[in-house]
Amino acid sequence: MRMGISRREFVGRGVAVGAVAAMGLRGLAETKPVSIRSAGAGRGILAGCAVSVRALRNDPAYKKLLEEQVGIVVAESSFKFGPLRPTPDTFFFDDADFLADFAHENRMKLRGHNFVWHRQLPVWFESYVTPKNAKQVLVDHIERVAGRYKGRIHSWDVVNEAVQVSDGLPGGFRNSPWQKVLGGNSAVSEYVPEYIEVAFRTARRVDPKAMLVYNDYGIEGEDEGSAKKRAAVLGLLRTMQSQGIPLDGLGVQSHISAVGKDGKVPVYGEGLMAMIAEVRSMGLKVLVTEMDVNDRYVAADVGPRDAAVAAMYGSYLGTVLEDPAVIAVLTWGITDKYTWLNGEDSRTDGEKERPLPFDAEMRPVAAFGAEVRALQGARARS
Ligand code: XIL
Repeated sequence: MRMGISRREFVGRGVAVGAVAAMGLRGLAETKPVSIRSAGAGRGILAGCAVSVRALRNDPAYKKLLEEQVGIVVAESSFKFGPLRPTPDTFFFDDADFLADFAHENRMKLRGHNFVWHRQLPVWFESYVTPKNAKQVLVDHIERVAGRYKGRIHSWDVVNEAVQVSDGLPGGFRNSPWQKVLGGNSAVSEYVPEYIEVAFRTARRVDPKAMLVYNDYGIEGEDEGSAKKRAAVLGLLRTMQSQGIPLDGLGVQSHISAVGKDGKVPVYGEGLMAMIAEVRSMGLKVLVTEMDVNDRYVAADVGPRDAAVAAMYGSYLGTVLEDPAVIAVLTWGITDKYTWLNGEDSRTDGEKERPLPFDAEMRPVAAFGAEVRALQGARARS
């Protein structure tokens, strides 16, 4: 038995009841089904998801679902360095443009993700980029890409996942391809890798209206690894501020689990909320940028799996949205049909993951209701 309800039931029944209550005596004809976008908008919170441009081009049902549901979009891959740069001298903008146009036509906000990441780099990166030309390559890239979408981007994930404490570098930075060619002098106190400084300064110069965000994962939990990573990320943000490096927000990816490897429901709260409060006190905003809830360690029955995922959506979002610094919630995809999780660390029993608000048939599942209720339950942002 599925926990989800069919689209017709959802539009015709559950939603109308709530809407009538909210509308008082106004006519039913004006009723609009609740959406992720409207639930967020009612509280001044931007709510949306990551988009597969390939699916957007080819799957009309997916396109329709996005049109109905989301107020902010980000490309799953199309704005990344590798997909944009088939060769050192050429750019491939078709997919990124396609999403930018879609967002514009539907009055959705658009996020940019990302200029710097250690994954999805082009094959030519390693042999072409050297300590000698790295700065120029990065500046050129940001000038070209940020310049093309200037004025159309709500926020850029300028640098993604630059912290990896276990790599053992000063400051907890990741020993990434960019670090290796443009790390700068790590012996100085208050060290910020040069590529991070160059990326943020260039992004600000080229698109001064876009919010500039540092984005990372593994900073959500109460475990020791998360606590250490949070400390390193906060150290980076503080040092950036003290050095006048432009920065407007922290992206908390929020790839989380319904149930952990140990069979227990993970706790998200104290450490995460302390970090968010600290980030707020620095005058920065917080965005939940890539939320999904994997059900990898929940037994195969769909009912309990969906219930566990929904419970986590409710408790996680209910918690983080208590802090008014959190201004946006994006899930990493919207339908299980295209979740990246099935391509990565999938379930071992061959079942597909169900981590998103809509199932693979694009019917809302319990997680949808949980997300909507969490957004509606948040205090209004000013
Ligand atoms: C993922 C995409 O969803 C996949 O399609 C791609 O193959 C790999 O990247 N953290 C991030 C995102 O910041 O860019 C990643 O997106 C998911 C993890």
